[in-house]
Amino acid sequence: MVGTLLPQELIRRKRDGNELPAEAIQDFVNGIARGDIGDGQIGAFAMAVYLNGMSDAETVVLTAATRDSGQVLRWKALDLPGPLLDKHSTGGVGDLVSLVLGPWVAACGGHVPMISGRGLGHTGGTLDKLESIPGYDVSPDMARFRALVKDVGVAIIGQTADLAPADKRLYAVRDVTATVESLPLIVASILGKKLACGLDGLVMDVKVGSGAFMPTAQASRELAGSLADVATRAGTPTTALLTDMNQPLAACAGNALEVHAALRLLGGDLSDRRLYEVTRALGVEMLLMGHLAATREEARDRLDKALFSGAAAERFARMVAGLGGPNDLLERPDDHLPEAPVRLAVHADREGIVQQLDTRALGMAVVELGGGRLEASAAIDHSVGLANIAAIGERVDAERPLAIIHARDRASGERAAHQVRQATRVDDTAVRAGPLIHDAIRLEDT
Ligand code: URA
Repeated sequence: MVGTLLPQELIRRKRDGNELPAEAIQDFVNGIARGDIGDGQIGAFAMAVYLNGMSDAETVVLTAATRDSGQVLRWKALDLPGPLLDKHSTGGVGDLVSLVLGPWVAACGGHVPMISGRGLGHTGGTLDKLESIPGYDVSPDMARFRALVKDVGVAIIGQTADLAPADKRLYAVRDVTATVESLPLIVASILGKKLACGLDGLVMDVKVGSGAFMPTAQASRELAGSLADVATRAGTPTTALLTDMNQPLAACAGNALEVHAALRLLGGDLSDRRLYEVTRALGVEMLLMGHLAATREEARDRLDKALFSGAAAERFARMVAGLGGPNDLLERPDDHLPEAPVRLAVHADREGIVQQLDTRALGMAVVELGGGRLEASAAIDHSVGLANIAAIGERVDAERPLAIIHARDRASGERAAHQVRQATRVDDTAVRAGPLIHDAIRLEDT
């Protein structure tokens, strides 16, 4: 017996559609983390939850138990002068928000201990992007991580073995038992890891559209609502924004290309306008949650000042140097970031206006160029990807290509060119992209 209920009894109760006692969920999750419960019972539990769901109360307990299954970061001893804030995204294409947002909020007085992931499926991963910077260490020891969060205000690193270990096992079993697509399991998995960072406030960026993790806008909305509600009830005030992923967020996708885009925005260049707007909107929520601004307008002002004064760029530079990267990345990015040997402009089959993009397919084109992984242990090529991607509503013709492909050789570049053409619909109708922020779920609204 692992605790208050035998594991098979807990599985039976959930299989039969009953609510589980809080203590039994906690014992089961601790049993997973300790290794006392085998993969068979974990899989059966996941399937029972997949089929019968969980109440909000059960999801809160599962989330808190996942968070508490390993180390929970405590910051009190450091006596930080500002709040601990973070953002998590459900993942997208050309979504380099984290690279800019962490240092930007740090420059406004927040402390951002950001634990990020690698690319998953068609979506890019913050760690892969940062690893295109030579020397950048995504697994420093905890003392270094904490020192950077204190002194620079931001450190972006990878998952540690001690953070939410129950999720590591549960997720691995879900992956091979067709139980990933379960709202309570997704919520507990995402939040269990994030809330273990000891935050005062969290903003969730839940993507909607053709490149989103959730298959429909309604599913994205449900996920956003549940994430905000469950995290807040588990003790971390959380806001969720539903943001558009019907096209890549920046006009590029690929690891080093996205670091270049981050440096441009941090340098005050707003040509990636959608990236700027979404990143700033998330920053506004973080500043409000951290009481670093009293109103939305004040938060926007504070963020713009930190961007255009160079303060956010300075935080980024200090974080990179503090984690082993070059001291002059901002001044000389071309000296450090890898560049693909082949560049290929891909033109549409006809002139006209971009109507629609299959964002997921564009992400997969980057993966197939070598910029993402087809299997977990594969190495990636940081230099490849798509640049100058034409946006919805933009005119393309003999002069303006759909994108510039950065490839390691001509054959892979031409394959990607075909995929980009297939992923883009062009005709003569004038069209405007939909809203960037589809909705916001805030504490005061719920
Ligand atoms: N990301 C996670 O971390 N967990 C899930 O279950 C799904 C996406």
